[in-house]
Amino acid sequence: MSNRETRIRFVLKPLAFLAGLAPLAVLAVWGVTGDLGANPVETINRFLGDWALRILLVSLAITPLARITGSATWVRFRRMAGLFAFFYAVLHLTSYVWIDQHFDWTAIWNDIVKRTYITVGMAALLLLIPLAVTSPKAMVKRLGGRRWRKLHRLVYPAAILVVVHYVLMTRADFLEPAIHGAILAALLAWRLYDRRPPALRAGGNGGKTPRPTRRRVVA
Ligand code: HEM
Repeated sequence: MSNRETRIRFVLKPLAFLAGLAPLAVLAVWGVTGDLGANPVETINRFLGDWALRILLVSLAITPLARITGSATWVRFRRMAGLFAFFYAVLHLTSYVWIDQHFDWTAIWNDIVKRTYITVGMAALLLLIPLAVTSPKAMVKRLGGRRWRKLHRLVYPAAILVVVHYVLMTRADFLEPAIHGAILAALLAWRLYDRRPPALRAGGNGGKTPRPTRRRVVA
């Protein structure tokens, strides 16, 4: 195994894993020290939702970063980022069902059908499920690279729905949802730009910009 591979596997990946768990650790510390504020249920739920969205945006930024820096190493962290986003989204849903609604399924169902932001959040999570399920390398092989990549494009509508969910639940001060929306818009714009044939891209460098993810599906 090369030095680079050893560094990725035994240093960078464990560090990235710890970084992914850091928000949960912060929440646990706040819980123990009683720093969850006047409305702990709301703090917990919103904190988990915020981190699910932030990490989802990080996962979407990985391919552009790899292309811009010319380093395929970034791509080695994409699957972990995607799974952490899903993990926080599931915890966010769990906090809503458990500590907010106390498993009152009738109230939850009424929320889903009557409150648009809950309907939209649910739709976003439903879109993320097939992506999480098909994230293992064995599933990439089973589906085949083309079908896998097609399926994983669902991450874009899912992210759009999450931002809509955020905007719809906000009653005042739209700055934060707007910032997240702007970041997502930039990532989507880059994605559309990157689909153009190399000769049409700025500089027309004939595709010299490294494209680490097209040839092999690196999870
Ligand atoms: C599974 C369905 C979902 C439900 C039932 C749900 C429920 C909620 C609730 C109850 C709130 C807080 C509303 C309030 O305090 O007034 C919220 C906010 C939020 N949710 Fe969700 N959500 C869902 C899916 C998602 C997903 C998939 C994500 C991200 C990947 C997400 C990200 C957020 C964000 C960023 C906020 C705003 C947090 C803030 O105000 O700082 N939600 N959601």
